[in-house]
Parts: sequence; C-alpha cells; structure tokens
Amino acid sequence: MRMRTGIASLAIQLPSRVLDVRDLATLRGIDPDKFTKGLGCGEIALCSDDENVVTLAAGAAKRAIARWGGDVKDIGLVVVGSETAQDMSRPLSAFMAEAIGLEGAYRSYETKHACYGGTVALRQALEWRASGAARGKAALVVASDVALYAPKDPGEPTQGAGAVAFVVEEPTVASVDLESYAWSEPVFDFWRPVGESFPRVDGPLSLDCYNRGALRCFQQLADARFGGDLEATFEHFAASCFHVPFPKMVKKAVRHIGEQAGWDEATTARLYGTKVDPTMGWNRQVGNSYTAALWMSVASVLAGADEGTELAAFSYGSGFGTELLTLRAGPAAKEGAWAAEFEADVADRERIDASTYEAWRTVRPVAAE
Ligand code: CAA
Repeated sequence: MRMRTGIASLAIQLPSRVLDVRDLATLRGIDPDKFTKGLGCGEIALCSDDENVVTLAAGAAKRAIARWGGDVKDIGLVVVGSETAQDMSRPLSAFMAEAIGLEGAYRSYETKHACYGGTVALRQALEWRASGAARGKAALVVASDVALYAPKDPGEPTQGAGAVAFVVEEPTVASVDLESYAWSEPVFDFWRPVGESFPRVDGPLSLDCYNRGALRCFQQLADARFGGDLEATFEHFAASCFHVPFPKMVKKAVRHIGEQAGWDEATTARLYGTKVDPTMGWNRQVGNSYTAALWMSVASVLAGADEGTELAAFSYGSGFGTELLTLRAGPAAKEGAWAAEFEADVADRERIDASTYEAWRTVRPVAAE
C-alpha cells in the first residue's frame, strides 16, 4: 500500500516590523518606481530587537503544532532549513527546540543550501515517511530566514524575513508527489563566507542560473507528464509558485521558459498573469524570506483552494540547486486557517519610517543576531 503523506499542518510567522520599499528608495535617493515597478517589490518585513531567525522558527512551529493537534511525542524528526546560521556547529533545530520546549525521541538537524534549504528539509521529511523509517511518526519541518544586505547594497530593497512551518504526516493540507524534478550546478552566484555578515552576490549570474534551473526543472516535468509540452504543463496546474527573491526575477524566468519553448508574447503574458503573478501577493508584503519565500507563495495559493487543486512549486537555492515539486490541495486547504494568522501578523506590524530603519541598521547590522 502506498504511504499517505504530505502536509498535515502549515503555519507562518512574520516579524513585527515593516518598511515600505518606497520609503527606502527615498532614503537612498532612488526613484521609488525602480523598486516597485523595476523589481516588483512592495514591503520589507523586519525583525524588532528581540526577534531573530530562532524566534521566527519557534513561532511558526508552535502554530503548526497547535493546529495539527497531535501529540508532540509522535514527532520523530525536527528539521530547520535556513541560511541564517546562528552557529557553525549547533543546529537551528536545537535553538528552536529549546525555544518551544521540545525534547524526546526525534532526530534533529539543520539543512543548508541557500534558499533551497527549506525544500530539502521538506523533501527529506516526506521521503523519510514514505520509506517506512518513520514508523508512522510525524516530522516538524521549518524554513526560517532573515534576509539582510549591507546598507546601500543594490539588494537592499529585496530584504525580508519570515518562517513557514509544516507538520508532515497525513496529507490534510496538501499531498506532495514523491516524484520531483531537480537540477544542480556548482557555481558562486550568491554566498556568505564564514565570518562575513552579508552575502556576496553576482546578481547577473544568479538571474542566469535561476532561469536555467527553472527551465531544466519544468522541462523534466513536461517530459515526464505532458509529452514535453511546456505550455500544457503551465496550463495544467492551477498555479505555479516560484522562489521569490523579488517578483521581477520570477517574471524573467517565465519569459525565459517562454522564449525557449517558442511561446508568443501573448501566451507568456497570459500564463504569467494567470498562473504565476497571483501567487506572489504575500511575498510582496514580506520581501525575500529566503528558504521561506517559496513556501509563503505556496501557502497563499493553498489557502482557500478546493480539494484536489494542483500546483507546482519551483525551489531555487544559490550555489545552485533547484527542485520542482507538485502538490495537490487536501481537505483542510479550503479553510486555510494559516491565512488568518498571516493577515493578523501583517495587520499588527509596526510600520517604521526610513530614519528608524537607518538607525536600526547601525545598531543591529547582522542578520544572524
Ligand atoms: N522606474 C522603473 N523601472 C526602473 C527604474 C525606474 N526609475 N530604474 C530602473 N528600473 C528597472 C530596470 O530597468 C531593471 O529592470 P529590468 O531588469 O526589467 O531591465 C530593474 O529596475 C532593476 O534595475 P537594475 O538592474 O539597474 O538594478 P540594480 O543593478 O540596482 O540591481 C538587483 C538590483 C537586480 C536586485 C541586484 O541587486 C541583484 O541582482 N540582486 C541579487 C539578486 C538575488 O537576489 N539573487 C539571488 C537569488 S536567489 C536568492 O534568493 C538567494 C539565495 O538562494 C540565497
């Protein structure tokens, strides 16, 4: 009998402050249209002084466990995917478990592959359950990050923060197909050497790698299930979610896929406008939350979806590793309880002005504090 597995519970935690990218643009003497229209950004979620990657992970985990309603003794695996490392040795899963008072008969570790780290954690949990090694136990998987660049870095408008947590067990929120489509190449497009506070980025290379990874993954899915037809692949899914460093990057990837597939401009615009752009509403309110960014997009699409709704999810992590997953909404998606939490977090945020942001960057310059 095939193992039933997938996402049994899903939750998001946002930090408590937010900055409008237009205010950042004014602070830096840049035309706000560059950030809003040129990059497609909206708001940047920011931590307060008592928030960090661990509090975000812990907040999302607590919410996911509470909604799941199961006994924490039935959790046999705890994994945190992140690129906001707190320690070179102690895993974030231990920091998080400490914060939520979790101990017991579970395997605990951290996964890292830039923004792909959360997807890797989720895949491992799904495969652990499907293999039978879990002996029916559930997994707690969290993707959590604080994305900060050096002040005045061109990447500054693409900052953000947040966490998404899953309990992997019965597929009540969504089932995830065990077949997935991966592509990896060893490159230096975005990396943070040990001891350095901010990432080094080769922006044009990262855009190029992202486009190539997206095409390779979608082509593998098209070949496996849709006779190689990329248009039919995009048409099939109610939505195709992408990792969202900033929305323009996603738009460029869809354009790249369209160019390689020979779509005309109208087809590209239609598929992007109906299947991809609507998946980035929450991302525009959060900014780039690295490992959590794809899963915020997926969470937004699942919330309110009819049971059986199919979606594709493309994960990208610099370095680079990509993987395309396919999911199907379960019976709990329609209610989409995590959407109310997301909206409450957004409504409760303190909106800070540019001078408060600038002062905060001088006292709290590093993401992993
Ligand atoms: N009005 C409207 N549009 C304007 C404008 C204006 N006044 N001024 C500029 N623009 C447009 C430009 O035309 C351009 O649009 P196109 O790309 O469509 O041509 C866009 O705004 C950006 O302009 P620039 O390319 O000049 O911007 P920049 O040189 O300042 O670069 C950046 C900004 C693209 C964000 C760059 O910093 C970058 O590449 N950053 C890193 C990208 C990234 O996040 N890579 C990693 C991806 S994966 C990830 O999330 C990391 C991971 O795995 C850890």
